[in-house]
Amino acid sequence: MNIRFIGSETGLNTFKKLLDGKAYVSNGDDAKDALIFEVSSLEVLYKIPKRSFGVPVFFYLTTPNKTVLSNIKDYQITGILFPPLNADAIMNKMTRSKEHTIATVNAKDYETLRIKIIAKAENIPTLPTIAQDLIRLTRNHSQTAIGQVTAKIKMDQGISSKVIKLVNSPFYGVRKEIASIDRATMLLGFSSVKNIALAIALDQYYQKPFNMYKTTGQAIWQHAYNVALISSEIARFLNQDSDALYMAGLMHDIGKVVMADFLVREVDCVQDEREQLGCDHAEIAAVILKKWSVAPAIVEAVRTHHDADNDLYGKIVAYANKIDHNKNNYEEYIYQLNKDYPIKDMDLLIQSIQTVLSDAADGKE
Ligand SMILES: [Fe+2]
Ligand SMILES: [Fe+2]
Repeated sequence: MNIRFIGSETGLNTFKKLLDGKAYVSNGDDAKDALIFEVSSLEVLYKIPKRSFGVPVFFYLTTPNKTVLSNIKDYQITGILFPPLNADAIMNKMTRSKEHTIATVNAKDYETLRIKIIAKAENIPTLPTIAQDLIRLTRNHSQTAIGQVTAKIKMDQGISSKVIKLVNSPFYGVRKEIASIDRATMLLGFSSVKNIALAIALDQYYQKPFNMYKTTGQAIWQHAYNVALISSEIARFLNQDSDALYMAGLMHDIGKVVMADFLVREVDCVQDEREQLGCDHAEIAAVILKKWSVAPAIVEAVRTHHDADNDLYGKIVAYANKIDHNKNNYEEYIYQLNKDYPIKDMDLLIQSIQTVLSDAADGKE
């Protein structure tokens, strides 16, 4: 496949490198199968003719400028590519659009959809009071507050029995079975009990179909719980706030709860979400978490968990996410992370993550 790229030298090289072996990308006239325009500003957009080019046309959007997005209407394009780019997703789109008639993406539709999705995210059912208390505790560690929350966990039969089931999982490494919340708090510390209770309290948001994500609510919840544990473990080994990272990991994909109501085709990656709905689950998760008064650093980590230029919190969640999705060669990601952020005791961290992963594989999904 011959793709013509119109834009900066850097952009051209990005696509050349990314699609190397899959497609031939150049800035010459001979490329006839598809066109990619790099849209880096409103001025650049205005220079692109609003006509059909007879081949699939993609806009590579490198500016966060919202006016650009709303001005894309009237352009006859097949799709929009957003960074971070994924080679397979792009090739999929290119081949799909060659096979089918060219669908015109109307940016006005994107804007309307985005507004609807954000409105739905802002109206997501309020958190159960127990979860609100648990979140508030990340800011208020007083003994009285801890005592009150423990009492609430104990009073809630449904939550406490599930907490007890999870504290007995291999990850916590208890020798003798724990039978009460008090005992769990004593042996594992309040922080672990609080974290488990929060995971359970969020379970209700996942009680719906997630067919467009090709999975189930139960599997998404289990993934969130794994990513929470892995994120908090990584944080612990990097001397970061492991409770905050636990919460970020737990909530990283909560945006999918809202996105699932709008998707009409199956999606494989964030790029697919953006193409269908003009936004992605990370952005929508941030809307939900702000609504739930979650600390800004956690919101930011969740919002950027699919971005390449995220800060340490965002990176930890991103790595934890990849680790849980690649259970067979997850160590590779720990080594990668270690290059930028030296980990004190790699073997111990790997061991601990192994327990999380094998625990979930044991049929807890
Ligand atoms: Fe995600
Ligand atoms: Fe995820």
